[in-house]
Amino acid sequence: SLPHTFNEKVPLAIIGGTGLYKLDSLIPVAKVTVSTPWGHPSSPITISKTASGMPIAFLARHGQTHNLLPTDVPSQANIAALKSLGVKIIIAFSAVGSLQEHIRPRDFVIPNQIIDRTKGIRKSTFFEKGFVAHAGFGDPFDGKIGDIIAKTCNDVLVNEEGVHDGRHKLHSKNTDGDDLTLICMEGPAFSTRAESKLYKSWGGSVINMSCIPESKLAREAEIAYQMICMSTDYDAWREDAEPVTVETVVGNLKSNSRNAHLLSERLIDVLEPLIKSGEIGNDLQGTMKMAVSTSENGRD
Ligand code: ADE
Repeated sequence: SLPHTFNEKVPLAIIGGTGLYKLDSLIPVAKVTVSTPWGHPSSPITISKTASGMPIAFLARHGQTHNLLPTDVPSQANIAALKSLGVKIIIAFSAVGSLQEHIRPRDFVIPNQIIDRTKGIRKSTFFEKGFVAHAGFGDPFDGKIGDIIAKTCNDVLVNEEGVHDGRHKLHSKNTDGDDLTLICMEGPAFSTRAESKLYKSWGGSVINMSCIPESKLAREAEIAYQMICMSTDYDAWREDAEPVTVETVVGNLKSNSRNAHLLSERLIDVLEPLIKSGEIGNDLQGTMKMAVSTSENGRD
């Protein structure tokens, strides 16, 4: 059995969504149970090491047996636990529905924008009464890391036979030209057709139940955050098709899960030298000091 503590700093974390519950390509070196002022994270955090020794944390967002509804994911504890390990970069996977014809089920998407349609019932800040701070969230993801993923991982996706035939695309602002906007809804039930059409009319690209408040809390914690979306269905907007069911989502997830593993393997190779040189993961350091609304930050 693995040690329950780990004392080195862990610069990179991967959060697995539905269909990605562990990282197969790396050898685990510890499994840590972290306790935070916001409670326990969704699951114990597995720490693995790359061939050249960089530690990577893995956290299963919905728990290791998928026992947490999106509304009940303890995001404050998840982000606080990763921060306490020294994490500077989070790559977060999530299953999504597609709101656009050209984003097909089993394609992947690197979003650069979010529209928050959660119901305000999730705890979405580390700041409470008496300590007022406002994180900048105009660009909710780390665009530098998003670009790196788009440029270095666009050829990794395979088809159902495991062949690189270009059938499944990796969409990003670079490839599609437009913003890729992720709608985050409360759930757990999927959207109505009318809602789905509304989100489409807003310019939504994909929809999930998981990026809020996770991405917001990462921003407050000064952690660079990029989500990788795995498309499983066409949601409910298509008049010529049945609205999404859990069977559709789960069926496409099996294929997505292989691609999620392939993509994270490639990405870890690409990110490791950039993390070591300090090129990525440092842009947010110190930003929250300036986000505190007191006269002490020199703004008045
Ligand atoms: N996750 C996967 N498919 C989804 C959909 N259509 N709506 C919300 N979350 C999803």
